[in-house]
Amino acid sequence: ATGKFTYDPGFMSTAACNSSITYIDGDKGELLYRGYPIEQLAVNCDFLETCYLLLNGELPNQAQKDEFVATVTKHTMVHEQMQFFFRGFRRDAHPMAVLVGTVGALSSFYHDSLDISDKHHRDVSAIRLIAKLPTLVAMAYKYSIGQPFVYPRNDLSYSANFMRMMFSNPCEDYKVNDVLVRALDRILILHADHEQNASTSTVRLAGSSGANPFACIAAGIACLWGPAHGGANEAALQMLEDIQKQGGVERIGEFIAKVKDKNSGVKLMGFGHRVYKNYDPRAKLMRETCYEVLNELGLHDDPLFKLAMALEKIALEDEYFVSRKLYPNVDFYSGIVQRALGIPVSLFTGIFAMARTVGWIAQWNEMISDPEQKIGRPRQLFVGSPTREVPPMSKRG
Ligand code: SDX
Repeated sequence: ATGKFTYDPGFMSTAACNSSITYIDGDKGELLYRGYPIEQLAVNCDFLETCYLLLNGELPNQAQKDEFVATVTKHTMVHEQMQFFFRGFRRDAHPMAVLVGTVGALSSFYHDSLDISDKHHRDVSAIRLIAKLPTLVAMAYKYSIGQPFVYPRNDLSYSANFMRMMFSNPCEDYKVNDVLVRALDRILILHADHEQNASTSTVRLAGSSGANPFACIAAGIACLWGPAHGGANEAALQMLEDIQKQGGVERIGEFIAKVKDKNSGVKLMGFGHRVYKNYDPRAKLMRETCYEVLNELGLHDDPLFKLAMALEKIALEDEYFVSRKLYPNVDFYSGIVQRALGIPVSLFTGIFAMARTVGWIAQWNEMISDPEQKIGRPRQLFVGSPTREVPPMSKRG
């Protein structure tokens, strides 16, 4: 009737791939990394143990952990020439733009010597990416505030090293606070992997052509930047700050009314999920971490945290959100925690990328190591014009 020509290229599989890395049960609100519940990993492990688990399939024993930590630590420095890539950016460039550029640029240092069919080369690439992302994220921040880059140190833990590279300067060294470092480590664990989300699927598709893993991770960073995905933590904090500016808890009703008005285009950022149709287990852990950090800093009366809890309570009772199974996701509280850690809003998604790099590279490695692997080639349902003749110019409307 519409004259549309439809071509169905056959069965459109919804399962993108087989994977043994991360399992999500969206209805039960369960998340497992290699069979271990996220709630247990977040409390009993640190981020590098979790990296080892995601990459190798098993938790490390003490000797394996010590060796892995030492290897990652020894790769935290970036090539001295990398700093010249930063100088090409405007100072006010968004850190995600800088990360897409600089992580992609890493491929220019390793591309020629890299044979991805060689397991050792793949393992070294994984270590280099996990080790160098914090250094690049901290360099993006330092560049944006006009302070000198801070080199990593080998006597600090992964997260303490990052906090020091972010907040140390030649006039005053950063004093490591174990509670804050532990909170950052937990944020990284909670964001480390999440099955076949948009950015992981981007990394897999890019990698399926045999592209350099550094270039594939740069593609994943580009996808994560979007506000519907990794950019949601920045957007969620912006939303809370806007409500606070307009009167805070007293004005929540007006904001909720706007969200319900389809024409407003306003979404409750940090709520809803493509898979979780129950509470995102990471959001619960993030809220606990938020409480611990704010307590440590004497900010338990933080108005944004109070506003977030009030908004969450209303949304969990309101028919509009309940009927649409819109629960808080990992991004709802992560912005408040990161703000309390002193991390600027514009860097929140960069921290997400820093955490997700291990998930991306573990998923990339799982795909590349599969001897049956072929280049990805999604099909389409064609709904355009049927075959037709080209009219001469004189006959075109
Ligand atoms: C992440 O995939 C992953 O795993 C991602 C991630 C990861 O770790 O990699 O978990 C990280 O990206 C978390 C999600 C962060 N994004 C946000 O918080 C942005 C706000 N959320 C929405 O953009 C939305 O919820 C999505 C995109 C996350 C999910 O969208 P869905 O599941 O496709 O839901 P939908 O768009 O089909 O919406 C269903 C209904 C619609 O209303 P109706 O048309 O039925 O009337 O719910 C409404 C939507 O309008 N809706 C929302 C809403 N999310 C969906 N209404 C208000 N606020 C929202 N946040």
